[in-house]
Amino acid sequence: MLRRLVLTDVRNHHALTLAPAAGFVILTGPNGAGKTNVLEAVSLLTPGRGLRRAPLSEVARHDGPGGFGIAATLADGTELATGTLATAPERRVVRVNAAAASAGALAERIAVLWLTPAMDRLFTDTASERRRFLDRLTLAFEPRHARHTSRYDAAMRDRNRLLAEGQADGDWLSALEAQMAEHGAALADARARTVSALHAALSRHPRGDIAHPSVSLDGWAGGAGELAEALRHGRARDAAAGRTLIGPHRGDLIVRHCDKDQPAALASTGEQKAMLLAIVLAHAELVVEHTGRAPVLLLDEVAAHLDPARRAALFERLDTLGQVWMTGTEPALFDAIGAATRITL
Ligand SMILES: Nc1ncnc2c1ncn2[C@@H]1O[C@H](COP(=O)(O)OP(=O)(O)OP(=O)(O)O)[C@@H](O)[C@H]1O
Ligand SMILES: [Mg+2]
Repeated sequence: MLRRLVLTDVRNHHALTLAPAAGFVILTGPNGAGKTNVLEAVSLLTPGRGLRRAPLSEVARHDGPGGFGIAATLADGTELATGTLATAPERRVVRVNAAAASAGALAERIAVLWLTPAMDRLFTDTASERRRFLDRLTLAFEPRHARHTSRYDAAMRDRNRLLAEGQADGDWLSALEAQMAEHGAALADARARTVSALHAALSRHPRGDIAHPSVSLDGWAGGAGELAEALRHGRARDAAAGRTLIGPHRGDLIVRHCDKDQPAALASTGEQKAMLLAIVLAHAELVVEHTGRAPVLLLDEVAAHLDPARRAALFERLDTLGQVWMTGTEPALFDAIGAATRITL
């Protein structure tokens, strides 16, 4: 959990210091006050582009000096910092205990997971959005997952470029395919472990719970040797297609609405939201079980969409997790919560 967060020129926040306790952190304020911006800042303490997936130059305050800074102190005293310099607005700088580090190193210190209104369409969205979601779930268990994903993607981009140039150097291609195979098999395995743990956790939850989704993984599931072989055989086909047609980058997280035995995409908006929430909660509980530390949960505008009974049930379940950040325009939405850090923006 975070016990201190300092934002400098992050979106609309010129200088903001928060000292959240464990448990609930409730941010309230009118539309545009900067609530989601605070959650985005916390989400940027992990590898990747944060909950808005915005370019870094957009995160820096528009009428500020150019760069931005996010600094956090964790409960164990670890100091994390990330941001940009005005001279390199798209280059991310990361520090762990004041020493320069890679973004991937953040995942070894903290797991952050979020649910935002933009994710309401996750089940009807493209497979790539669901893969990104699954990768974030996986990262909370396996910090190395970010590295496998980025190395796989980088090798695939290089391979696609070589094939497009038509001057395929066999050795070079084989070397790239070997990298894709190594990292691709590792990331596919990690995703499969996450999905099977999640599937088991979701089926443990009782009837009458918030929702009953089931999850499975679609797509590449072979080992590294098979993947290297399949890529080698697929060169001509991939060159013609202009992209790589097999591999874990084409996988998908399949979610079904168990009560109705339907694909999640066919469920109502509220049902889809409840299923997403059920997945995130089951995942957070699993992370506690597996790693002994709870992920920091960022729930943007979740309370407003639930009826009072569901809201109370949600709060009760969240109460056992580590640090849960929630936003809303109305403080009254959170009346059912006892102790909390309440911040008005
Ligand atoms: N780079 C930036 N520099 C300055 N202000 C920015 C920047 N990016 C966004 N903003 C401002 O931040 C505000 C939005 O903040 P945010 O989305 O956090 O609001 P919110 O409190 O979550 O509101 P809502 O209740 O509507 O969700 C907007 O007024 C927007 O113009
Ligand atoms: Mg908001």
